[in-house]
Amino acid sequence: MDFSFTEEQLMIRDVARRIAQEKIAPTAAHYDETGEFPSENIRLLGEAGLMGIEVPQEYGGAGLDAISYVLAMIEVAAADCAHSTIMSVNNTLYCNGLLKFGTEEQKRKYVTPVASGQAIGAYALTEPQSGSDASAMRCRAVRSPDGSHYIVNGKKSWITSGPVAKYVMLFAMTDPAKGAKGISAFLIDTEREGFHRGKTEPKLGIRASATCEIEFTDYRVPVEDRIGEEGEGFKVAMSVLDAGRIGIAAQAVGLARAAYEAAVRYVKERKSFGQPIGSFQMIQAKIADMKCRLDAAELLTLRAAWAKQQAAKTGARFSTEASVAKLFASETAMFVTHQALQIHGGMGYSKEMPLERYFRDAKITEIYEGTSEIQRIVIARNETGLR
Ligand code: CAA
Repeated sequence: MDFSFTEEQLMIRDVARRIAQEKIAPTAAHYDETGEFPSENIRLLGEAGLMGIEVPQEYGGAGLDAISYVLAMIEVAAADCAHSTIMSVNNTLYCNGLLKFGTEEQKRKYVTPVASGQAIGAYALTEPQSGSDASAMRCRAVRSPDGSHYIVNGKKSWITSGPVAKYVMLFAMTDPAKGAKGISAFLIDTEREGFHRGKTEPKLGIRASATCEIEFTDYRVPVEDRIGEEGEGFKVAMSVLDAGRIGIAAQAVGLARAAYEAAVRYVKERKSFGQPIGSFQMIQAKIADMKCRLDAAELLTLRAAWAKQQAAKTGARFSTEASVAKLFASETAMFVTHQALQIHGGMGYSKEMPLERYFRDAKITEIYEGTSEIQRIVIARNETGLR
């Protein structure tokens, strides 16, 4: 087993680290405070190829592999979790989803501007009344009488980058009688008539990642903008989420790493009872526990990325590896940010340091792209074959 990275993987990691540390980290508190969308930083990520890392260069991306994507996500998330959320949905749910299931024309038209960072992509599965039970969606797409279009009506909620997205991968019911097999996927241009955005959601964390409800009223999608066959939408959604969950695992690792490194610095500087607090065994135990979980989370995330690369050759699923990585890394992010804040005491609770932001940001990693409960269901079902 070889734990080393290729030159290309290290190169993209270093590019991501430079932008993250020079541009994103110094502005992260501002964007968190104001909730503004960090357009300028996202533009820089796009110029560096970081908004479409696995997309081939002919479609505007960097043409790199899943491990490169994980390494770059870790770096960006270590500077700011919200930036890595925008990056993750754009890269994986939108671009990689269309690359896997789109036609040649769809890739040229709809992947190229998003992978190159000129436009933002989003993914719309969740609805006000359906979250974990995604297949219970109500948003409807009905074929027009002449067969050339689908007419879409309904709402989608919690849409990451919804307030700014130019394109959206939408899942809607084409045949409600068939349940999950009656769902189809579509490509939405948000500038067409019938597309509306709701208010931007005020959130606990990842505040610079804009989230809103979107609504369709008699929105017309040309048949050529359906992704995959009619009725294949749920499989597209689940398969795209498998890849997305690796990105969230990487995000959780980056965030946990930032909190862990801050804690290690602090325990060496801060003195109490006449000695650095890092000399006390109760603090040492926290450092050791954080380090073990962080390393394990990173390795599980890299294993999932590796499994995804193998799956591209064999066609196998990598759902278990992705869910194991997402579950463990997100719970690690909660654990590590909590311990790091505790080590910092009052300073950790203050907005003068980023610890309280790390702590708030960590929570979402246990919720989106499938809650921890859903990851446990996926893992247990795959392991036992029982439902
Ligand atoms: N890949 C391909 N196909 C898959 C699949 C996968 N990973 N998982 C399931 N399928 C297929 C199944 O094989 C099945 O098809 P067949 O009958 O032909 O075999 C079909 O899909 C239905 O599968 P299930 O019966 O398992 O479906 P279910 O209704 O029981 O749901 C679930 C399973 C795991 C609970 C699923 O609904 C789920 O993952 N829910 C969570 C939804 C979620 O993660 N939402 C996140 C929203 S997006 C987001 O958060 C983005 C963001 O903002 C950052």
